[in-house]
Amino acid sequence: MKSISNCHRAILQWYRHHGRNFPWRRTKDPFRILVSEVMLQQTQVSRVLQKYPPFLRRFPTLSRLALASQADVLRAWQGMGYNNRAVRLHLLAKKVRKEFNGRLPGAITDLQSLPGVGRYTAHAVACFAFRQHVPVVDTNIARVLSRLLPRQRADLWSLAERVLPSRKAYDWNQALMDLGATVCTASNPRCD
Ligand code: ADE
Repeated sequence: MKSISNCHRAILQWYRHHGRNFPWRRTKDPFRILVSEVMLQQTQVSRVLQKYPPFLRRFPTLSRLALASQADVLRAWQGMGYNNRAVRLHLLAKKVRKEFNGRLPGAITDLQSLPGVGRYTAHAVACFAFRQHVPVVDTNIARVLSRLLPRQRADLWSLAERVLPSRKAYDWNQALMDLGATVCTASNPRCD
């Protein structure tokens, strides 16, 4: 369909010019990408930008996190809120160390078996860290998709799957997040 490929081209081009430059978009380390996604689940970007670098200086690898005490992990998490995420991230690190030889798995089913990793985070890590061709749906993307394709009755995950371009899933998913956060916003949309 012509209109959807035009839409892909326009959004990917918009992203090349207006995409935000975040530290988690400049790393290929799955652990670092996972940490960013867990932080971004419930904390605003500006706060994550402050807390992400010191957290990774304190725990530069998954093994270092696994071997830390829970008290140390919570200390490094201070200011982020929702501490249960830190507790689960710590449990995740221990489990991956024991059951996956310390290497974060790339398969979505394995990822979803880990503490604190739901459907969203598993897909985000599969796409952003392992470059898998999978859709990602968070609240921003959900809003963009429902405005782009109103009256679609399919659930948003299958919608996201259907509109995924045949290449560049990483850029596409990050682009939809940025569109949702900066243009197609909840309260002041400038989507047109
Ligand atoms: N929110 C959740 N994941 C994000 C990402 N990778 N970039 C920007 N905002 C996000």
